[in-house]
Amino acid sequence: MPSHRDTILDQFSRQAVPFSTAAPIRDEHALRLLVEAAETRSDDLVLDVACGPGIVACAFARVARGVTGIDLTPAMIERARLLASEQQRANVRFEIGDVLPLPFVDAAFSIVVSRFAFHHFQNPAAVLAEMKRVCQPGGRVVVADLTVSEDPRKAEGFHRMEMLRDPSHARAFTVDQLRRLYRICGLAVAAEKFWRMDIDVEGLLERSFPVPGSEDTIRKMFEDSVADDGLGLGTRRHKGRLRFTYSNVILVARQ
Ligand SMILES: C[S@@+](CC[C@H](N)C(=O)[O-])C[C@H]1O[C@@H](n2cnc3c(N)ncnc32)[C@H](O)[C@@H]1O
Repeated sequence: MPSHRDTILDQFSRQAVPFSTAAPIRDEHALRLLVEAAETRSDDLVLDVACGPGIVACAFARVARGVTGIDLTPAMIERARLLASEQQRANVRFEIGDVLPLPFVDAAFSIVVSRFAFHHFQNPAAVLAEMKRVCQPGGRVVVADLTVSEDPRKAEGFHRMEMLRDPSHARAFTVDQLRRLYRICGLAVAAEKFWRMDIDVEGLLERSFPVPGSEDTIRKMFEDSVADDGLGLGTRRHKGRLRFTYSNVILVARQ
């Protein structure tokens, strides 16, 4: 049985190109919302935790003085460096590494951000505590992630489907569970922003690497959820195609 770390490396090595080129991931409106929610200024030093292909890091680098991105998957860091060079961003650097623990001294950054990664962490509270540790007093600790339904049956349905679609999934949170995570780490949430991503099921499957042989089961789970919203994603048919919506949140705390 592969370790979670092996599964992360396997999935994100294969996802590096399809993930980094997917329109919802590159969406400018969502990136601006994140940079603004963090109250980013020209003197900020930003850490992007589990930065993947560097899209978030490069968005912060438009405003901030300097940005560092860290990610476990070399193929993702390769994409990140390519993006930074395409955008001619001299104030951003990337390194390969695990986010637990973060290999940085206390209070090294004024903004510590992580997008779409918390649902892949086996110990998200420990990662958030690390984000807090490397954030300077007065800085912002920012987590952006997809959220699941408050209805436990729907959250469980989503979990079952997602473990088949992307085995590097650990556990997605409700908005309230994420707030609780902040409280556990002694962080007071100062601002919350919400945004939605409408997704085409077949488009998602094209950029996924599911458990071999599970594609039809995943399709059926989506199809069944049109009637009862069993995944909590508002799955519907639109012009003959199956579509659903991720509800995403950004939580911002001042350290
Ligand atoms: C869905 S991608 C999100 C990438 C990026 N944050 C974004 O929003 O575009 C999740 C990333 O988390 C990284 N990751 C997962 N667990 C990690 C860990 N323990 N340490 C470092 N990176 C990790 C994966 O390699 C992957 O690149």
